[in-house]
Formats: sequence, structure tokens, C-alpha cells
Amino acid sequence: MRFTILTLFPEVFDSIRSTSLFGKALESGLLRLDFMNIRDFAPGKHRVVDDAPYGGGAGMVMKVEPVVLALEKLREQSASVRVAFLTPQGKVFNQAMAQRLAGVGHLALICGRYEGVDDRVRSFVDYEISVGDYILSGGEPAAWVVMDAVSRLVPGVLGCHDSVEEESFSKAGLLEYPQYTRPREYRGMLVPEVLLSGDHGEIARWRRQEALANTARNRPDLLEKVELSDTERAFLSDIESKHHTEE
Ligand SMILES: C[S@@+](CC[C@H](N)C(=O)[O-])C[C@H]1O[C@@H](n2cnc3c(N)ncnc32)[C@H](O)[C@@H]1O
Repeated sequence: MRFTILTLFPEVFDSIRSTSLFGKALESGLLRLDFMNIRDFAPGKHRVVDDAPYGGGAGMVMKVEPVVLALEKLREQSASVRVAFLTPQGKVFNQAMAQRLAGVGHLALICGRYEGVDDRVRSFVDYEISVGDYILSGGEPAAWVVMDAVSRLVPGVLGCHDSVEEESFSKAGLLEYPQYTRPREYRGMLVPEVLLSGDHGEIARWRRQEALANTARNRPDLLEKVELSDTERAFLSDIESKHHTEE
């Protein structure tokens, strides 16, 4: 899969080639990463990329023209490229979106800066993506988040593809169950006995229950979309009533 990042600050991504999973996937050719500096597409000697907002107000706005010229150049080189604009006004990014984007052969990510980008840019993109309900200073960290989440779903990037299916928000739609590694005891805290039992059926049952309990505790909204057995419903209402008694 190929990513192209359109940014005014490509240096933000300097360390990405040396990070283990992503770096290895770039080296092996499973992933490809290119940058386009939006400033290179700004007309004039001074390559100005921002201007004051029409209608007044604080700060500067990123101009539409350099972004569109960069996109046109990119589309000339790669007709199949799909373009995502990182903006807090976009659809909130989640695992299902990451899964869909992992099927795109070439994904371009536009990073805004300043007080935002001239709204006309939206007419030139395929997706508008927000990474959450908060404001970043620029789209670069958001692009990194999207690229990281998408690239680990590209077959071959992760060593073991099963781990992707078991993770939070994935197939089961739940948060993941708790994980442990050695030592068996740490400051008096023990690894649950069942995980040492070697009984895979029992371990799977325990993990499912813990995933349900984790989700009920921190993300009850996710449970609305999960198919539950009668036993699981009873288990969850048991947890809930214990919770109320403790409060
Ligand atoms: C300071 S923000 C502009 C926010 C804009 N004034 C607004 O209220 O929507 C500058 C740039 O950071 C990026 N950005 C900020 N927050 C983001 C978020 N939650 N998700 C994706 N991109 C974000 C966008 O590219 C945006 O154009």
C-alpha cells in the first residue's frame, strides 16, 4: 500500500522510517511513503501558503491553490489515489474506517495548519477525517495516527494477522481482554490462574468475559452493537448491579 502525505512540515515524520513495524514494512516494499511539500506548489517568489480570513477573525487560513495544485500533480501520477483531508470537522476515525482504508491501494493525507484550510479544498477530496473531538495544531499527528492504524491492517505488515482480529474494536466489537506476561507475580499482583491452566476452552471463555467486563466498565456504548448470549447478558447485569451496590 502506498501513502502520500501532503504537508508544510514533512520533517515532522523524520523518525517514521526507523520505527520498527512501519520501517520494516517500508524496507520490504509492503508499504511506500512519499511526501509532497504543499509550499512547493505555492505560486510566487515567496511561496505564500496562508492569508487572512475573509470576514475577519483570528489567525490565518491555509490557501486553497497550493493544496489543489499538489493534488492535481499527484492525480496525474496516480489516477487511483484516494484523498483524505484531516480536519476536526470530518467523520471521527475508527477501526472500521481503518479497515476500509486498508483496502485502498494509494491513500493521500492532507495536513492542514494555521486556523484551518480554505473550505473549497473539501471539493477535491474523497474523505474528511477527524481523529477525535479536540483541536491539534496541525494535521500531521492526525495523519500519522491514520497511517499507523491503516498500515497495520495491510496483510503482511504485522507478523501475526490473528492479533489484529482479537484486538479492541475488531471482530468482536469489544475492548480487548487483559494481557499478561512474566513475571507471574508482581508486587503481590498475580496473573489469573486460568491463563496458566493450559485449558484453551476455559481461557477463551475467561477472555470473552473479561472483554465484556472491560467494555461495560469503560465503553458501554460499544455493547449496544454486540450480539450477546443470554448468559452474557446475565453476566453483564450482574456486574452492573455489583457496581451499583459498591457506589
Ligand atoms: C488548529 S487546526 C484548525 C481547526 C479549525 N479552526 C476548526 O475549528 O475546525 C489546524 C489543522 O489541524 C488539523 N487538525 C486539528 N485537529 C484535528 C483533528 N481532531 N482531527 C484531524 N485533524 C485535525 C487540521 O488539518 C486543521 O486544518
